Amino acid sequence: MPDSSRFTRRGVLAAAAAGAVTASIVALGGWRVTRRPVLSPETGSGSGAQAGDALDRRDLAIPRLDTGTVGADGVRAFELVAGAGTSSFVAGTQTPTWGYNGAFGGPTLRAAQGERVRVVVRNELAEVTTTHWHGMKVPAAADGGPHQPIVPGDSWTAEWTVEQPAATLWYHPHNHGTTEAHVYRGLAGLFLIEDEKPPADLPLPRDYGVDDVPVVVTDRSFTADGAFDERRRDASGMLGDTLLVNGTVSPRFSATRELTRLRILNGSTARSYRFQLDTGPLVLVATDSGLLPKPVSVAGLTLTPGERAEVIVALEPGQTAMLRSVPHTLGLLSTTERASGTRDTFDVLELSRANADDSAPPGTASTAPATLTEMNAWVAAGGAFAAPLTDPPEPDVRRTVTLQDNKINHRRMNMARIDEVVTVGSRERWLITNEHFLPHNLHIHNARFRVYSIDGRKPTAELRGWKDTVYAPPSRTVIIDVEFGTSTDPHMPYMFHCHLLQYEDQGMMAQFVVVRPGETAGPLDTQAIGDGGSHAGH
Ligand code: C2O
Ligand code: CU
Repeated sequence: MPDSSRFTRRGVLAAAAAGAVTASIVALGGWRVTRRPVLSPETGSGSGAQAGDALDRRDLAIPRLDTGTVGADGVRAFELVAGAGTSSFVAGTQTPTWGYNGAFGGPTLRAAQGERVRVVVRNELAEVTTTHWHGMKVPAAADGGPHQPIVPGDSWTAEWTVEQPAATLWYHPHNHGTTEAHVYRGLAGLFLIEDEKPPADLPLPRDYGVDDVPVVVTDRSFTADGAFDERRRDASGMLGDTLLVNGTVSPRFSATRELTRLRILNGSTARSYRFQLDTGPLVLVATDSGLLPKPVSVAGLTLTPGERAEVIVALEPGQTAMLRSVPHTLGLLSTTERASGTRDTFDVLELSRANADDSAPPGTASTAPATLTEMNAWVAAGGAFAAPLTDPPEPDVRRTVTLQDNKINHRRMNMARIDEVVTVGSRERWLITNEHFLPHNLHIHNARFRVYSIDGRKPTAELRGWKDTVYAPPSRTVIIDVEFGTSTDPHMPYMFHCHLLQYEDQGMMAQFVVVRPGETAGPLDTQAIGDGGSHAGH
């Protein structure tokens, strides 16, 4: 077997000056292949959270649900404080971490379509950060991208009207040049959108933390003294050997109902996962930007960084199921596949349902718990979770997006440049081609899209719903039909970029403004450029 690791990671680290590590590793092709964790979870078995280990499992942490407070002005208001703290992921160790309203992660925010929401974000960190609402259609000034920096000690307020249907969105920092580090240190949370009026008999689990469960999957490496290892780096970024699910190592979830809805976010900065259930197919009910009209059964589900999916897991009393990430392909050369972590196997989450009386704890059920039989019968009788997915109409505008090493359309991110101008309401078809040999994906702010084709072929079931992030395999063309939000602002841009955050930070990002028909784009808001640009780290 050809070994791409003649340059071992430690060797490269030892040989390279600290500041130039990333570039050296990438240039040498010196991927890490050893997968031995520095620390082992709890039992000290020494093999990490790999499949097959008999580990002591911990109860899955459930991020606090925050529905904000609705004031006299009718606005649903939230407060987030970004700060530093300490977390214990592995017995006997303390890890310095960052979080919103806590030491790690962030609360799950929830609002409904049609509501006016306001979020005040305070930065108690020692450096500039931003908070972006990934997947949200928002006015550009409320987007929380690199043009909305929050200096230490300061607060920033974003306000908008939720214009999109039910979806599992998320929020995370987006300061140009430091996004990867800020997310890796722990700043990330879910933002759930509910439909204005879901059908009263909608047979989807929706009791948060009971049968509607967030599953934020991230991977980390630890240093010998228990800190997150930010220097451990592969071709595609920081690949960890230990999974944290909502911050829990080796998690288990005790189901109390027949159906459990998992809202899975790949919150990793670089790693992709292919999720499978050891008891049978996954029942997919939603992709990034919302519910499918009806459930579809899939053998597995690949999520690259930033992508989400909602699945339903059905368990009989006494039954246990393991959600795993299994070896998969990203369409790379085999050495690159290995270096991108696609050969790895992880136990992600053990789900088990007790035998005993498991009627819902009092006070938690807002609706009668659904069963698989009911769900299928409801759908068979014509019930739909969301509006039918029809083929997108012919586009008004076509754009080409090519991805090169740290570039989009051969240019690196420039905060002062408008790369694309979108006219509000126009239907756009984007042709995305990854011209690089490494894995990249594309995320577009203030938008949702449908995958039209991948290399001329119709997308598989897992890619047929509404999305905001899509994987772009090397040397292939992904065509998407994009629907943008309704806000316009000729002076403030949105981003589109690779969501493998190392690449985003290094410049694989570009800017677009949304204007009214006939409106001229630019000039960009110079205040924001001055603030954001001075913290770009390049
Ligand atoms: Cu999840 Cu531009 O970000
Ligand atoms: Cu990329």
